[in-house]
Amino acid sequence: MFEVAAAGLSRTEARAEILAQIGGLLAGERDRTANCANVSALLYTLMPELNWAGFYFLKPDGWLVLGPFQGKPACVRIGPGKGVCGAAVVARAPVRVADVFAFPGHIACDAQSRAELVVPIIREGVVLGVIDLDSPVPGRFEAEDAVMLGEVAALVAAGCDW
Ligand code: SME
Repeated sequence: MFEVAAAGLSRTEARAEILAQIGGLLAGERDRTANCANVSALLYTLMPELNWAGFYFLKPDGWLVLGPFQGKPACVRIGPGKGVCGAAVVARAPVRVADVFAFPGHIACDAQSRAELVVPIIREGVVLGVIDLDSPVPGRFEAEDAVMLGEVAALVAAGCDW
């Protein structure tokens, strides 16, 4: 089975390890729930200093609905354009928030969260959902994390049946 050795990885090593492992994780399976569950586990296990990692799927009515995740229970539905997640859908680009207290409209699911990174999942120009990472450490997410997570989102978009 899949082996993940998370202990002691630097942020740089964790990013490289995630990209090295995700291809194998998605190989041979296209079920969206299964693949996104494993991807959220991969991110949460390998990335240091996270308290939440998971997916929201975009519904035809424009609402985001909670998908597979790791961490504490989270808000189930996010309205169009709401929160950091909705902002990433509108922007069609990653939104990296160093301090969630300074982000107007941030939706607090876990009071421990202080920094957030959300990237949209886009296939053939259509936004399918987002990947959301939370951290209790202000300023936790680096530009390189947004690049890595964007690559993860592209692989998830191509590697699942939507
Ligand atoms: N903070 C997010 C809501 C989702 S939770 O972080 C899991 C937001 O503002 O959209």
